[in-house]
Amino acid sequence: MTSPEAPRGSSPWSDLDRPPLREAALRSALVVDGSLWRDLRVVDRTESTNSDVAAAARAGSPEGLVVLAEEQTAGRGRGGRTWRAPARSGLALSVLLRPPVPRESWGWLPLLAGVSVTAALREPSGLDLGLKWPNDVLVDGERKLAGVLAEVVEDAVVLGLGLNVSLRRAELPVPTATSLALEDSEMLDRDPVVRAVLRELARRYRGFVTAGGDPDGPTEATGLRSAYRSACVTLGRAVRVELPGDKEASGEAVDVDRSGRLIVRDGDGTTNALAAGDVAHVR
Ligand code: BTN
Repeated sequence: MTSPEAPRGSSPWSDLDRPPLREAALRSALVVDGSLWRDLRVVDRTESTNSDVAAAARAGSPEGLVVLAEEQTAGRGRGGRTWRAPARSGLALSVLLRPPVPRESWGWLPLLAGVSVTAALREPSGLDLGLKWPNDVLVDGERKLAGVLAEVVEDAVVLGLGLNVSLRRAELPVPTATSLALEDSEMLDRDPVVRAVLRELARRYRGFVTAGGDPDGPTEATGLRSAYRSACVTLGRAVRVELPGDKEASGEAVDVDRSGRLIVRDGDGTTNALAAGDVAHVR
């Protein structure tokens, strides 16, 4: 666990709980021959890594760009919310993909990112990680550790991940959030977290592309829907879902369909397929 109070100072090394990311080491581990990752940059401060990668996508950057920020001044979350975290307290990273699969299947990419984070970190962290639909990474089915923001930019997809690593209790944006440190994770260094997440993301993305975007591919690497179902702690729970346009749905979450939509069965046995929304687990 980290100390409760952050030491003050302007040097990145003044807070020993929060050393800087090692860009050169990350690059030599991840940007190698045959890797999906073709360029990796660590910036000290930016408004939003998703916005930076979106700009690179518009400027024609190839697939495989990774941007990590030590601090974001205008980090964005799902549903128009903000994503805030103190400098070097977690991961703020975005990747650029140009998926050579039909657009109808692109909606699976943020779910693929969520599956990759849980699969990459479950064992090394020793934590019980699961996904609240669509892609909040929860600990013990309750506390939010990480979130994913996916944006389509022309013919590219920007996948952004925010993950709390050394956040202290007093720094949590909401009481239901958590961090690897607060959960006594066995993995607390950000560099190995970045490596594990990006390797798993690349592996699952390649499987998804090999399957032509079919989420029901036959192998472990291509069977994204079955991996998602196994990781998703929303399934089987009673849920209340806030839908776009001030609507709401409630019932039992029973499945995720071939488009990644959450299937909710209400008290009358009617099922609704929900494409977007904020889920609350009510029991
Ligand atoms: C959510 O749970 O609401 C999604 C949060 C996504 C935050 C990340 S941090 C890196 C990337 N850049 C952003 O501006 N947002 C995403």
